[in-house]
Amino acid sequence: MLSPNTPIESLAQTAGDIFREHFGSDATLVAAAPGRVNLIGEHIDYCDGFVLPFAIERTVVIAAAPNGTAEARIATAFDDEPATFSVGSDQEIGDPKWSNYLRGVVQGFRQRGIDVPGFDAFIVSSLPGGAGLSSSAALECATATLLETLTGARIETREKALLAQKAEHDFAGVPCGIMDQFASSFGKDGQLVLIDCRSGDTELVPFADPSLTLLVSNTKVSHELSDGVYAARRKSTEDGLAAIGKPSWRDVTPADLEIAATSMDPVTFRRARHVVGEIARTIGAVEALRKNDFPLLGRLMYESHVSLRDDFEVSCPELDHLVATASEIGTAGGVIGARMTGGGFGGSTVTLCETAKADSIAAALVKSYEEAFGFAPEIFASRPAEGARIIVA
Ligand code: GLA
Repeated sequence: MLSPNTPIESLAQTAGDIFREHFGSDATLVAAAPGRVNLIGEHIDYCDGFVLPFAIERTVVIAAAPNGTAEARIATAFDDEPATFSVGSDQEIGDPKWSNYLRGVVQGFRQRGIDVPGFDAFIVSSLPGGAGLSSSAALECATATLLETLTGARIETREKALLAQKAEHDFAGVPCGIMDQFASSFGKDGQLVLIDCRSGDTELVPFADPSLTLLVSNTKVSHELSDGVYAARRKSTEDGLAAIGKPSWRDVTPADLEIAATSMDPVTFRRARHVVGEIARTIGAVEALRKNDFPLLGRLMYESHVSLRDDFEVSCPELDHLVATASEIGTAGGVIGARMTGGGFGGSTVTLCETAKADSIAAALVKSYEEAFGFAPEIFASRPAEGARIIVA
């Protein structure tokens, strides 16, 4: 019932094989970067909050070689249309759509005064797109890692993640926070990446207990034009903070929020209540993890979901159904907690559960979802994996 994770070595092999067929020579370089899930701390990375994602065992892999020209020639396993663009001049938004993530990263190198030579590349991925698992951040971070080796320039991990985030802002038009690119870049085997989004500091939190499994359930739906809605959510948090009159959400207490309630419209107030609550829940979840207090962690995950559903309004019936089903299975059935993960409006949920019961929980989630919506979600388990890296050089 669980969908398997293709090992990164075999993805690299596939990418190399198809590269040879496609370009008629061998790739000299293979780079990879993972997607992410977020355990808790949603829609607060752009509010100076704390977030707790990890890099998953689903990855974008790029096989590449310099081609001696001034052009990037890129083909992928997920789109028949290849991309060709000059890397010797400033980048512009172009087609196909996915090529903008690469163009944006090339531009980031150029802006740092690093010349990018022409290259051929073939991209494969085990990461479903549009599933709230940061396939775009993975593509950006894999590209940045590839270009580091191709150009011989060394860019510090944090700066590389910020370069990738800027590519998303400028070339995909999504004013995202730093969580996805940081998780994809800083991910470590068996560790969650606690990110302080005010300071930009990261701290690894061990998450490798074999008796626990994290199930990722992809609803396979993507409802809204999420770009516009995402920007609108971000804007209401800015309005909320302005009404409260503090420099950062980290300085805002629940009491500050109550005092400022009358100076905000009810929607802005609910958005603000999510931010303040979610920052506290994320801090609480880290403490709970450190004390192995799983009942508390589970409770915080459910509370986070309710807040995202009712106050931040970024959930949808499909996500709510998966979380409700997990909660009905409950601790008696081995479920610790569940919530939507990522930007919302479709995408995926995370369900933390006992490893011994993971298969039966996944089967129950699939059955109930199929009965409700007429098609199956894709469910896989993932442990925290390594972040962006070169696999073959
Ligand atoms: C998207 C964005 C992230 C973050 C999440 C919500 O994934 O790219 O920066 O804001 O949504 O937590």
